[in-house]
Amino acid sequence: TGKYEHILVEKKGEKQNVGVITLNRPKSLNALCNALMLDVNAALAAFDADASVGAIVLTGSEKAFAAGADIKEMQNNDFSSNVRNNFLCHWSNMTNIRKPIIAAVNGYALGGGCEVAMMCDIIYAGDKAKFGQPEIAIGTIPGAGGTQRLTRVVGKSKAMEICLTGNMISAQEALQLGLVSKVVPADKLVEEAVKLGEKISSHSPLIVTLCKESVNAAYETTLEQGLRQEKRLFHATFATDDRKEGMTAFVEKRPPKFTNN
Ligand code: CAA
Repeated sequence: TGKYEHILVEKKGEKQNVGVITLNRPKSLNALCNALMLDVNAALAAFDADASVGAIVLTGSEKAFAAGADIKEMQNNDFSSNVRNNFLCHWSNMTNIRKPIIAAVNGYALGGGCEVAMMCDIIYAGDKAKFGQPEIAIGTIPGAGGTQRLTRVVGKSKAMEICLTGNMISAQEALQLGLVSKVVPADKLVEEAVKLGEKISSHSPLIVTLCKESVNAAYETTLEQGLRQEKRLFHATFATDDRKEGMTAFVEKRPPKFTNN
């Protein structure tokens, strides 16, 4: 992992089939400076291209998943430079990753930290996790999906409250709101996320990709378009060896052997 400055990269799980990326910029609570996000996007792309990996876990430290965009780095930006550099646009490259990404959030997930977690496919939280969009308190607004993805997940009233007050919410509240799908003790969090990644990796990677694409259609399009896309993708699974193998194995009462074809 020598090629990365601000992250650690490893493979975990019994079959070493879960890629784990750990944000590692402890002095600034994993503030998401440009170099860190370039590291994250490069590591995600590498795991996406690695046939031995079926799912990816993105995590931080026990104190902070990430405390947001790097305020010191953007302090002197102006409107023109933001437009010229398309400021923060490359962050959303991670939404083009085709394998499932699980965010394992301990500690603070604030501003860009919360937004990056929401760009992942599943969020697990440690019991001390804190989520928030505190941009309003420093004179700006969320700029990497906070007003959009959060609103789709928790609804308008709660999203307004979170974005307009800058107040943090607890892991328990995030669970109630459906922002996270599970809360586990902080010291078991990465282990649990890896277990989830292993379960996903036990299925056909090909079909997992189609399934992720289909769920995302619900999130990104209308019901009518989403249903049509789902039906096409469902029909398309019947062109694969893995669909044949899955159903044959069921009928023959044996575990399937998927080949990613
Ligand atoms: N950017 C740059 N540095 C940050 C940072 C950030 N977002 N968050 C924390 N740090 C740095 C602090 O400056 C401090 O560094 P120094 O020791 O050099 O002063 C170090 O991390 C430790 O932070 P604190 O001393 O503040 O730690 P704390 O435990 O007292 O407080 C905290 C923790 C409540 C998370 C607090 O650090 C905080 O409020 N951070 C900023 C949160 C924030 O506003 N995030 C939104 C950023 S804007 C954004 O993300 C835009 C977008 O939508 C993309």
